[in-house]
Amino acid sequence: MWLTNSSIGRKVIMSVTGVSLILFLTFHACMNIVAIFDVFGKTGGEHYNWVCEMLGTNWYALVGTAALAVLVVLHFVYALILTLQNKKARGSNKYAVTDRPAKVEWESQNMFVIGLIVVLGLCLHLFNFWWNMMAAELMGAPAIEATDGYRYMCETFGNPVFLIIYLVWFAALWFHLNHGMWSAMQTLGWNGKTWFCRWKCIGQIYTTIIILMFVAVALVFNFCA
Ligand code: HEM
Repeated sequence: MWLTNSSIGRKVIMSVTGVSLILFLTFHACMNIVAIFDVFGKTGGEHYNWVCEMLGTNWYALVGTAALAVLVVLHFVYALILTLQNKKARGSNKYAVTDRPAKVEWESQNMFVIGLIVVLGLCLHLFNFWWNMMAAELMGAPAIEATDGYRYMCETFGNPVFLIIYLVWFAALWFHLNHGMWSAMQTLGWNGKTWFCRWKCIGQIYTTIIILMFVAVALVFNFCA
């Protein structure tokens, strides 16, 4: 099948899964902003925990989590396949560093390494939150404890070591998304000269807003909660 056997097919899989993950991140960033209102309103996490409770371990949340896991695995596996394939195609030229086109950006050459940092950060994040919440509820923890996302945010971002690790993770994610968004659009067909520049600009603005939302939540919880 061309989708899995050809280079362009694999890139299409990377692009579609990548764009879907960006949509998830948009929802996730918006959901987290609710917690900022809780901090300033001094409500003790009433509204954020209500959102967590609504998602909880309902069937639709479980289906969403399973779909998300499939997207992440597909995105990572195909990134690995494409990286190895590119390395093989370059052959002994891989050491000719000075031959690199001047305009090829730093991110585009380090997408896989940055992606790896993103995945490691995600593992830590799932351990800090998902494990204490959705997984705990599935294993029988009382719902009141498993939906207290506000408390886990206070604990995680109140710790300066975690705060720094998360900020590094957000920076890596910003580089990754910045490149990933226009690269995906190019693969999916918007590769004319005008649209190339437009998507680059749209991608940069969009991903900066999303990442700043995550950064704001982490900082507000560190300083104010
Ligand atoms: C300030 C930053 C963030 C906060 C406060 C935060 C908070 C949370 C919380 C509370 C949950 C558990 C939700 C539940 O199980 O009900 C969660 C799950 C999750 N987060 Fe985050 N998150 C942040 C950033 C991110 C980022 C940057 C990513 C991706 C790169 C991410 C990916 C995920 C994933 C994949 C899950 C599991 C979702 C599911 O169970 O369906 N999060 N996060």
